[in-house]
Amino acid sequence: MGKTTTLLLLLFALLFTTSLSKDLCHKDDKNTLLKIKKAMNNPYTIISWDPKDDCCTWVSVECGNANRVTSLDISDDDVSAQIPPEVGDLPYLQYLTLRKLPNLTGEIPPTIAKLKYLKSLWLSWNSLTGPVPEFLSQLKNLEYINLSFNKLSGSIPGSLSLLPKLDFLELSRNKITGLVFKLLTPEHNSVLSFNFEGSVPLWTQMSLPV
Ligand SMILES: *[C@@H]1O[C@H](CO)[C@@H](O)[C@H](O)[C@H]1NC(C)=O
Ligand SMILES: *[C@@H]1O[C@H](CO)[C@@H](O)[C@H](O)[C@H]1NC(C)=O
Repeated sequence: MGKTTTLLLLLFALLFTTSLSKDLCHKDDKNTLLKIKKAMNNPYTIISWDPKDDCCTWVSVECGNANRVTSLDISDDDVSAQIPPEVGDLPYLQYLTLRKLPNLTGEIPPTIAKLKYLKSLWLSWNSLTGPVPEFLSQLKNLEYINLSFNKLSGSIPGSLSLLPKLDFLELSRNKITGLVFKLLTPEHNSVLSFNFEGSVPLWTQMSLPV
């Protein structure tokens, strides 16, 4: 083997090992996730998050292009906390799921309005209070909103009907007043809605004439 070949091989070996040990997770996202963990009082489901590891390998987290966090799903835990406002600091988040956290209280934080790539907001089976936020209508990529089984009150912001990609809107089992049907607009092929607490069916599909 020539000297150059040996050198090249060494170089490749070096590149390979450094790329393996490299922390892929974006450091801003990692810091934000660690703040979220702390703000939620170290939920059991994410207790294994270790600052030494690549955050893209952590449970409940998924990354996309450029190793930015695109999905966060913390569910089925006995955390007693509010939704940490820091979730708004994951700028590439597309899927935010916080489900079955019976002691997750407080309002849906306005920082969520910063998540301009958000496609799915699933916050069912918690104890969230306050309104269905008007600011959700700023998130033009939203396809799926499910806030069912909470204690949300007030009426449904009509501006949600302006969300161009919204396919599902589920607000059942809350304390929401007013009709949903006015939300349906011709741009939506099928918007699923309902609200009302009590014995009204959880799920009603309305197909619209196109
Ligand atoms: C939720 O909080 C209540 C009152 O603070 C407490 O009694 C209950 O055990 C908590 N539930 C869970 C699942 O942590
Ligand atoms: C909304 O969430 C509830 C509770 O997790 C679930 O039963 C329901 O199927 C969800 N709705 C949609 C449209 O996914």
